[in-house]
Amino acid sequence: MSAFPRGFLWGAATAAHQVEGNNINSDLWVLEHIEPTLFAEPSLDACDHLRLYPKDIRMLAKLGFNTYRFSIEWARIESERGHFSMAAIEHYRRVLAACHENGITPMVTLYHFSSPRWFAAMGGWEKSESTDLFVRYCGRVSRHLGDLLHYATTFNEPNLPMLLRWLPVSEIPFVKVKRMAKAAARAIGSDKFGCFFLGDGEKLRDRMTAAHVLAYETIKSGPGHYPVGVSISMQDEQPVGHDSKRDKKCAEVYDPWLAAADKSDFLGVQTYTRCRVGKRSDLSPEPGSETTQMGYEFWPEALEACLRYANARVKVPLYITENGVATDDDERRIEYIRRALTGVQNCLADGIDIRAYIHWSLLDNFEWIMGYRPRFGLVAVDRATQERTQKPSATYLGEIARHNRLPDHAK
Ligand code: BGC
Repeated sequence: MSAFPRGFLWGAATAAHQVEGNNINSDLWVLEHIEPTLFAEPSLDACDHLRLYPKDIRMLAKLGFNTYRFSIEWARIESERGHFSMAAIEHYRRVLAACHENGITPMVTLYHFSSPRWFAAMGGWEKSESTDLFVRYCGRVSRHLGDLLHYATTFNEPNLPMLLRWLPVSEIPFVKVKRMAKAAARAIGSDKFGCFFLGDGEKLRDRMTAAHVLAYETIKSGPGHYPVGVSISMQDEQPVGHDSKRDKKCAEVYDPWLAAADKSDFLGVQTYTRCRVGKRSDLSPEPGSETTQMGYEFWPEALEACLRYANARVKVPLYITENGVATDDDERRIEYIRRALTGVQNCLADGIDIRAYIHWSLLDNFEWIMGYRPRFGLVAVDRATQERTQKPSATYLGEIARHNRLPDHAK
């Protein structure tokens, strides 16, 4: 079998803070500009997608894709607590309209790691009021944009803080993190700096699962009828040794969110690599293995393993909302896509309900603390001129999307 089901969604993804540029009201902008910081460089203009979205969406459609996954920036929409900017909301109406004009199905993420500064100043996700504040924001967005939405996810990878807890202790610069958080709080005139990346994993999980359930209800009661889900970060977790904590890790990191997704309309699966789990924590890649610019293994087969793990635990359909590889060697990206999609086909052949493959990312963009060095894009961006250059992988995946099948030689 090389064809994908009819109506399969093929797309590429971005996130507001990583591509729009000048997200100055966000907590991350603060972290990028203080001393000490863990960020390799600040995001600044990013890919100027705030201005260039019409071109980018047209390019996506021309390449052969039918779906665009992007996020709506809370820090722009609710720049001050309780003040909802109609100008910002109107911007996203125009982005959605551009999708529709180009025959592109929009999939919108309401929260992709960044928060407004005021939210960080009041303590962020660790505070109980965070849930209501997020739900209120989702209510506003869905009320004003619901008629143009086709799919929405509440959170992007809300399980990431729990996942990061499994990093070997030696890889976490605790002292620098503490000093950065302190400096950030000072910079915004608060004694707190509640940021998604810095928060306590368990507290965040409890607040955010609660927020997801309530936001789901709120969005569904607004205008429009569209599926609402959540996208989680998944790795192919492989045990190493008889005393590996792999199962404990999966139960902590994935299962609460799989249960939450199962009560909504779909699960977004986001996978990049495998992870070898030892008796205390994650282990480094085996010596000699091929690694990506992120430092983890080149392992496209992880996608199939994660889809199977998720399918065994949820009844809702699966949408691959992110999958990709950071490399300057575009031939390796093509290889990665080919092998990842072969895994998707194996799952489909076994009757697993998978409805989308959305690649990360449309553009080379701002990779959080690592800055602009890792290149995940199907399309390169010259950040001095903002010129876009399509890579061969963009054409490769675009053709698969256009024909809804893998090329015969690829199987
Ligand atoms: C995130 C993206 C990120 C990508 C590559 C995912 O964890 O959702 O924002 O750029 O992985 O690291």
